[in-house]
Parts: sequence; C-alpha cells; structure tokens
Amino acid sequence: DGAGGPGRHAPSVLDIAHRGASAYAPENTLAAIDAAHRLDATTVELDVQRSADGELVIVHDTDLERTTDAEKVFPGRASYAVADFTLAELRRLDAGSWFGAEFAGEPVPTLEEALKRLHRHRLNLLLEIKSPELYPGIEADIADTFGGRPAWFAPTPSWRPPRLVIQSFDWESVRRSRDLLPSVPHGLLGTVPEEEIGDYVWADQINPAHTAFGADYVDAVHGAGMQVHTYTVNDPGDMRTAIAAGVDGLITDRPDVAREVIAEE
Ligand code: G3P
Ligand code: CA
Repeated sequence: DGAGGPGRHAPSVLDIAHRGASAYAPENTLAAIDAAHRLDATTVELDVQRSADGELVIVHDTDLERTTDAEKVFPGRASYAVADFTLAELRRLDAGSWFGAEFAGEPVPTLEEALKRLHRHRLNLLLEIKSPELYPGIEADIADTFGGRPAWFAPTPSWRPPRLVIQSFDWESVRRSRDLLPSVPHGLLGTVPEEEIGDYVWADQINPAHTAFGADYVDAVHGAGMQVHTYTVNDPGDMRTAIAAGVDGLITDRPDVAREVIAEE
C-alpha cells in the first residue's frame, strides 16, 4: 500500500503539489489531494492549524473568509479566526464553492482525514505548521498525531522522497517539532542568511521563495548537508531557472507542469 516504501516516483527534482493541486481544485481540501493524485504528483504540501477545541485542521489563512462561507453560515461573528471555531462549527463550512460550483460542500479537512486520503493515494506529505504563534503546543499535537503511525516516518535519512517533512516559517517551531520527531525531516521556510546557515544544520531543508535565491545559495545549503525546496513556482520558465540553480524540489500549484519541466532534464 506504499506505506512502508518510497513513492511511485523518485524524480531527480521533487514535484510538490502546493496546498494540493491548487490550480485545479480548492486549496487544502481532499479534492485538491485527489487532483494531485490524478496528476500523478509525488508529494502534497498542506497547511495545518488548530480549532478552538484542539483539533488539527487543514487550512491556509488564519481567518476563514477567503476560502469558506463562514460569514454566511455564522453571520455577525466578531471573529472568523480558525482558532475561534470548534471542529463542529468548521464542519458546517463549505470550503469548495469559492473555487467552483462543482466543489460545493467540500469540507475543511482534519489532519487525520488528509493523512488517510494521502495514504490511500500513496502520496507523501510536506506539512507546514501555519502561524504556530497562534497555537501554543501545536508541535506536540502534531507529534501525537504521527506518534502512532510509524509508516509516516522515513526509515533512513537518504530515503527519497521522504514520506513526511514538516516545515514552518517559524524556525523556533520547526526546532520544537524536530526535537519531538527527530526521525522526521524538517524544513525552514524562507531564506536563512547565507552566513547563518551553519547555525541551522539541525534542519534538513531550507525552503525559500523562488525569487529569493540563486545557484550560490543552493550550493551553500547543499554544502551544509541540507536540501532546497522552493515555493511557489507555477511558471515553466521559473521552474527551469530554479532547477538550473540546483533545487531539490519545486512546490507548485501545477504539479503536472512541474513534472513536464522536470522530465526535460
Ligand atoms: O510550502 C511553502 C508555501 O506554502 C509557503 O507559503 O503562504 O503558500 O503557505 P504559503
Ligand atoms: Ca503552505
């Protein structure tokens, strides 16, 4: 079932479907995971946050207005922050209609549901801890989620692509998560200043915006023993530039396009 071994593909450059295949289905939904699978992606990137009653849920913005009908379902609420809604409330929301009528009723998934769907499709996961400053202790909640799931842990550091990578823009959160899940590879989102890379060799990846680095930077990260996965690369020309700079992975809304460009190598 793919749980104990590498994904179906081991491309030279990893294709990572950003928020699922979010050019083709509403981001961070099971439909977006299904779309990534249909497009033969290797890995899916998802954003995790926490409900008011402590459930881990998959959603990007820290507020619900852009990608759900929260204002319609709960009119007049003082806050539409994810953190202020219980899971039962979140489950009443439609996270698909904003993207297209054919996705009406698509729910905000829990992390558990996303993991089950990824497992079914034999997809790997790049999990972003979104705005952890809003969710004290979320790293432990995530570690608990994976604690009973040895299949999600890479058996060796060289296993590629890894089944699970955890990343965040908040590097202290990444460090806490890495200390709780030392066998899971971890990534630092953003650009670590080149002269400070040596301070972060406890991480496995540095994952900058595709506009924020060049080949010298990739060489420096590789020299420190880490990988570079860049976001969010949707234009084929930008994908070629990133590949020429030596990146290990492309985080993209269009995994089908990335696969075509990677195949040109
Ligand atoms: O995986 C990196 C990328 O997702 C970071 O930006 O805003 O899409 O979460 P954002
Ligand atoms: Ca993200």
